[in-house]
Amino acid sequence: MALHHSFGIDIGTSTVKIYDHSSEQIQKERNMIAIRDAESVYAIGNDAYELFGKTPENIEVYTPMSNGRISDVSMMEAVLHTLLERTQSRIGYGPALYFSVPTDMSEIEKRAYHTIASRGMLRRSRIFMVERAIADAAAFEIPITNPKGTMLINFGAQSTCLSVIADGRILISNVIPIGGQNLNDAIVAAVRRKNHFMISGKTAKRLKLSLTDLSGSKLEARKVAGIDTRNGLPRSGVVTTFTVTSAVRSEMEKITDEILLFLQRIPPQVRTVILNEGIYLCGGSTKITGLPKYLNDRLECAVRISGNYDLHTVCGIKKIISDASMKTYLL
Ligand SMILES: Nc1ncnc2c1ncn2[C@@H]1O[C@H](COP(=O)(O)OP(=O)(O)OP(=O)(O)O)[C@@H](O)[C@H]1O
Ligand SMILES: [Mg+2]
Repeated sequence: MALHHSFGIDIGTSTVKIYDHSSEQIQKERNMIAIRDAESVYAIGNDAYELFGKTPENIEVYTPMSNGRISDVSMMEAVLHTLLERTQSRIGYGPALYFSVPTDMSEIEKRAYHTIASRGMLRRSRIFMVERAIADAAAFEIPITNPKGTMLINFGAQSTCLSVIADGRILISNVIPIGGQNLNDAIVAAVRRKNHFMISGKTAKRLKLSLTDLSGSKLEARKVAGIDTRNGLPRSGVVTTFTVTSAVRSEMEKITDEILLFLQRIPPQVRTVILNEGIYLCGGSTKITGLPKYLNDRLECAVRISGNYDLHTVCGIKKIISDASMKTYLL
């Protein structure tokens, strides 16, 4: 067994994705931590998500990230260490940890990555960072040094990152603080408004996955459990594709408006190339049914969606770890 192990890590607001170079396996777990009596760790990862929304009063479930950025360093450290321990390989002596990071990261944020990966069992780790858009471009096998310009969008759980790369670097970028969780929230609000019925975020997510159809061809309904907002009593209710899709569409309108504004900020000669070539899309929220045609119509250009969805970025880090010539893109 190799003494030094390498791991590629994409810390997302909803899930952490880890590529273990020794076993070549990718694993993904919820980025969540349950704390008991405000002081001790009770559960981490998928186990914490199971508890979410149904914990006794003395247990709170937290997400250590917000809008794609680390918001609680010590909780993030606890989650990362546990999830690395759950990988197939032993961490070993001085593992190499390759993180995908936001483009416009501040020095404080950079320090947060060093903090979460340099104590306890990770104290001898070697830390490398790559900007998410570069990892995404690598996974799309886009020639990163292409001087003409390529646009990428990563549509995640709490953020949508827009980037243009040209000549091996990020030319322009923007993060819209809207992602899949905002779609869930919009579904909760729409069901409450229309049906006088309060559903949980988890139920809203299930409805999003099963009923959303931006192409408008689905006509379905689901019976779900919730609480009647008029009398506070539990009951079941029926939610339709129409209600769910309208809520998702309203959030998508906000995102596409931001994308159109972003396109206006790109130098005209680069924008022309991008609109001719199409825009590259990845991230878990790109799985929404009917999204490619919706974006194609609204943006008036082709969109190319990654088949790796939420695992796209970590697949890009895997490429960077495996190909020595790509190490030049590490920060
Ligand atoms: N089939 C699906 N339809 C719609 N949305 C989906 C589907 N599958 C997953 N998602 C959404 O994808 C999101 C997770 O995507 P991803 O893992 O890329 O986000 P993240 O990296 O955790 O978040 P961020 O990048 O914002 O920090 C969740 O909001 C989830 O509901
Ligand atoms: Mg992400």
